[in-house]
Amino acid sequence: MVKVGRIKLGSQGMEVSTQGLGCMGMTFGYGPPKPEPDMVALIRHAVESGVTFFDTSDVYGPHTNEILLGKALKGGTREKFELATKFGISYVDGKGEIRGDPAYVRAACEASLKRLDTDCIDLYYQHRIDTRVPIEVTVGELKELVEEGKIKYIGLSEASASTIRRAHAVHPITAVQLEWSLWSRDVEEEIVPTCRELGIGIVAYSPLGRGFLSSGPKLLENLTQDDFRKSQYLPRFQPENLEHNKTIFEKVNEMATKKGCTPSQLALAWVHRRGNDVCPIPGTTKIENFDQNIGALLVKLTPEEMAQLESFAATDAVKGDRYGSGMATWKDSDTPPLSSWKAA
Ligand code: ATR
Repeated sequence: MVKVGRIKLGSQGMEVSTQGLGCMGMTFGYGPPKPEPDMVALIRHAVESGVTFFDTSDVYGPHTNEILLGKALKGGTREKFELATKFGISYVDGKGEIRGDPAYVRAACEASLKRLDTDCIDLYYQHRIDTRVPIEVTVGELKELVEEGKIKYIGLSEASASTIRRAHAVHPITAVQLEWSLWSRDVEEEIVPTCRELGIGIVAYSPLGRGFLSSGPKLLENLTQDDFRKSQYLPRFQPENLEHNKTIFEKVNEMATKKGCTPSQLALAWVHRRGNDVCPIPGTTKIENFDQNIGALLVKLTPEEMAQLESFAATDAVKGDRYGSGMATWKDSDTPPLSSWKAA
């Protein structure tokens, strides 16, 4: 039995399990929603295993993911787990819009509290940055929600270093969520050092490269047409790039075999090894994969092995951006100055 430890996230007192559980794929993004009783069983199994940090968003579904978590986490002691959700991507008539204006932030929080069936969200992230609203204004509203006891800690997802700094000056930011894995390392240049300088915790999403580092090109064989990984928004999974990128998986897989672990465990061990301030949140919909993933905590990597792994997925070895055009990322997340804001 793997013992899942605890780490401090940020400098405000938040503590989470060393590995979290990304819940998106249970109802959204990666094929059709999975059967609810199975997902409830998986979430409860995670809690029993010591994984208590759950990641969702109001946009997953939309809304179905939060409702699932609300149901699955009923009946236990609320203090036993850390619930993280996000606001900021609004879907109206199938069209997505990024929103960070105060009235939207408040309404989104109230709605998430209802769906999660709780009176406080542990970590509330802005999912994507609204480049029309000064970050000070959005975080100002989040600060009020903290003061009212509706949220405990504030997070940002896919925010640039300058946005993180400006936000942190209004109210301490506890965690920044970013895509970080063997094949997505652009955050290491500026964002990770900024978080470390400011004492902000790091939550690594898609640490398995959305499953590519677990299964390689085979992953694509079993996906339904509506799976996000088949869309133009994820160029690395497009056939012309996949053919090239498969070498990365093959090398990771080969090294895993030599070490006596699985490629998923190796990819996750690499993220864990990046620091005690980093919490990866691999997503899964299967108990056996969940068990395998916490096994990554037992995989030891020497500095030489870390370097070898990194050489497999060096920047010039990966073909295709991590997101295609039309998807908001930290690269375009800067917001206008506060002085430009005229409250409605
Ligand atoms: P995200 O953060 O976007 O969920 P991720 O954590 O990098 O992305 O990867 C999630 C994908 O990896 C899912 O497709 C998941 O599939 P299952 O739901 O079938 O598990 C897959 N995955 C997770 N752990 C895995 C494992 N141990 N072996 C194989 N695939 C795994």
